[in-house]
Amino acid sequence: MADLSRYQHPRFAKAYARISLESEARGTAEHRDRALAGLSGRVLELGAGNGMNFSHYPDTVTEVVAVEPDDILRAMAEERAARSPVPIRLVAGHAGALPAEDGCADAAVTSLVLCSVPDVPAALGELRRVLRPGGELRFFEHVRSASRWRGLLQDVVTPAWSLGGGGCHLNRDTATAIESAGFEVEELDRFSYAPLRFVPAHAHVLGIARKPA
Ligand SMILES: C[S@@+](CC[C@H](N)C(=O)[O-])C[C@H]1O[C@@H](n2cnc3c(N)ncnc32)[C@H](O)[C@@H]1O
Repeated sequence: MADLSRYQHPRFAKAYARISLESEARGTAEHRDRALAGLSGRVLELGAGNGMNFSHYPDTVTEVVAVEPDDILRAMAEERAARSPVPIRLVAGHAGALPAEDGCADAAVTSLVLCSVPDVPAALGELRRVLRPGGELRFFEHVRSASRWRGLLQDVVTPAWSLGGGGCHLNRDTATAIESAGFEVEELDRFSYAPLRFVPAHAHVLGIARKPA
């Protein structure tokens, strides 16, 4: 069993249980629907948190293997999994060494999680490994602003934000990282919104990338 002690953020986990509900009502629910629409077969979800995606999976999904390292969030996700329309199996693990066999997944999902993993190329390499050839990566992530000044502000704010935000970085260029990891980006929507009252609107990407067949 992997050592998950560095991924335990009890204060963030309890706060996320509250703010994820507010975020859902401010547009995140629709973005989750778009990110997961049309998925089928076996899905690996990375960093499932408290399970906010679960009710958004279409019934063509036969199983979701939901990997989550934080004990508190994983326990909350277990409760949501029990009410989910598709079968969900929660697994303790982390992005750097996914507890899944090579090529076992038809699709992989990341939502609001590549901002937090310590090593993005390693996480994307692991997601590629567990996807079957031709499998798809669905992503919905907040990213660094395209505006120079906002990007610099995000660089300045990120170290403090990360401390209270479970390791979250405001300034990652995640779409470029996905391409650099060898995925073919097929769909990419860039947009801004404010998922929380106290946070200004900021850039997000949502799309589909494919592991070459
Ligand atoms: C902002 S929450 C998002 C949760 C969920 N994906 C969602 O859409 O609501 C970030 C999540 O990333 C998880 N996380 C952080 N580092 C991780 C890692 N190295 N491997 C897997 N998950 C990680 C956290 O435990 C947390 O559940």
